[in-house]
Amino acid sequence: MFKLDALSKMTTEEKYKYMLILVEGQCSSEKDALANLSNASAIIKSCMDKLNWAGFYFMRSGELVLGPFQGLPACNRIAVGKGVCGTAAAERKIQRIANVHDFPGHIACDSASNSEIVLPIVKDNVVYGVLDLDSPELNRFTELEEQYLAKFVDKLNKYINWDEL
Ligand code: SME
Repeated sequence: MFKLDALSKMTTEEKYKYMLILVEGQCSSEKDALANLSNASAIIKSCMDKLNWAGFYFMRSGELVLGPFQGLPACNRIAVGKGVCGTAAAERKIQRIANVHDFPGHIACDSASNSEIVLPIVKDNVVYGVLDLDSPELNRFTELEEQYLAKFVDKLNKYINWDEL
């Protein structure tokens, strides 16, 4: 069982370090990719404040398809190159968007979202999908969040067999 009661006493950076410990514990003790990614989305949502959505889109036959997430129901499919997620997948670059309403082609799944960060999931030069986080706060995601979420994706890449999904 995850012990999340300790989180209330932690600083922001301590929470993010703990988030990495939790995902390592999850993925090193379970082989099933879907179980690991379902809990990975829950770990992020539990350890990072002020989020209204956290989850995955997987690359399937050249488009992004919704994976495990925490939050309101979201769009099922996103074309590569479209929206923040599709841009991250097409450019293979982290998209950190202070105000989603200023991003041309932003796809609004939850009207509460005001800022967003999307990390491409790339392993052995293949784009397997993206990790997407939304916040109701403008400019929620800083260099600190980006740094720890990039480490989070590295942990996933260490354990997850993306071809299994
Ligand atoms: N806003 C995203 C769509 C996915 S939802 O935020 C969950 C985008 O523009 O790609």
